[in-house]
Amino acid sequence: MAEIFTPWKMKDLTIPNRLVRSATWEGLAEADGTPTHDLINALGDLAEGGVGLIITGYAFILPEGRGLPKQTGVHIDAMVGPLTRISDAVHKAGGLVAMQIVHAGGQTKAEWIGGQPMGPSAMVNPAFKEEVGELSLMHIEDIIDAFAMAAARVKAAGFDAVQLHGAHGYLINQFLSPLTNRREDDYGGNPANRARFAYDVLSATRQAVGPRYPVFIKLNSADYVEGGLALEEGLAVAQGLSQRGIDGIEVSGGTPAAGKLSASRVVKEASDEGYFLTNAVAIKKVVSCPVICVGGWRSRSEVEKALDQVDAVALSRPFIRQPDLANRWKAGEEKAACISCNQCFKVGMKQGLGCGQELKKQEKEQG
Ligand SMILES: Cc1cc2nc3c(=O)[nH]c(=O)nc-3n(C[C@H](O)[C@H](O)[C@H](O)COP(=O)(O)O)c2cc1C
Repeated sequence: MAEIFTPWKMKDLTIPNRLVRSATWEGLAEADGTPTHDLINALGDLAEGGVGLIITGYAFILPEGRGLPKQTGVHIDAMVGPLTRISDAVHKAGGLVAMQIVHAGGQTKAEWIGGQPMGPSAMVNPAFKEEVGELSLMHIEDIIDAFAMAAARVKAAGFDAVQLHGAHGYLINQFLSPLTNRREDDYGGNPANRARFAYDVLSATRQAVGPRYPVFIKLNSADYVEGGLALEEGLAVAQGLSQRGIDGIEVSGGTPAAGKLSASRVVKEASDEGYFLTNAVAIKKVVSCPVICVGGWRSRSEVEKALDQVDAVALSRPFIRQPDLANRWKAGEEKAACISCNQCFKVGMKQGLGCGQELKKQEKEQG
């Protein structure tokens, strides 16, 4: 059985244990995307809690690519200074931190971006029900450049790695999905063309950060939406990314349109845990980079079993309730306290992240 608390490598980066904090939107940035003290402190707390690698919540690469309000921005050079405070805080606490970068494409709201959401094809977005416009080829090129420039800022801000968001229905995933990509030019019409945008983003990002900087991706293995990305195509994309030099793949799945089969599913018992493990193991067989499996990990023993088949596991909701979960597992605890109720916000989404169960407890204690 593989050990959770043994190091592994992503390119030259040695990560001290197999537990990764999966990207989690914190809702703790100013309206212009600047990280607040609360965000810096929350990420510092996670580092103190012993997690091997922290991935920040998704940061937008262009204002038109925002996914939610109060999201962190990495869209302008002026963000490098404020973002450096995150990497400093995490490093001071002995941790490692990657930044996840995203363009939401058509999966956002006009009111949040101040204009019409744009995606691979004109349609009503299956999850957000907004009218989406079709990106021109020139606009696609600009977005690819914006990914590269954002990645260069992540590196300049002292982060240990950059993660591309290629999952959960956002722009890279929209290009991969036959449901949202109905283009007939070089970016659509067949699986190889649908994957071109992801490959172009990787190649531009690599150019921007150089050969030794870790660039990895959170990738949908399948969308679980009728007509969306199927596992067979997801495997081919993972293989294509590996052949083009991606340094790691975090395997996820589902989109907000997938209902119960979304990325953040209900987990009640041990058999519900690791719901993308089968897909991650299939991907592991066709790639040469490390594979991280996210989705529903709640018990130390289930994670230990999974580590026979994948390199690391990533968790999101359990770290909202217990930022020190890694240290707890190291000390011998078995179960995370998270019950997957998906009430991970303080007061609606406006106040940012916070465990609903912990808040209920505090309210009771205060009478
Ligand atoms: C409040 C919240 C915010 C999330 N934000 C992101 C995000 O910014 N980027 C991302 O890739 N996934 C995001 N996710 C999905 C999680 O990273 C993860 O893939 C999913 O919740 C399954 O893992 P878990 O069972 O450990 O929570 C978010 C999930 C939650 C609950």
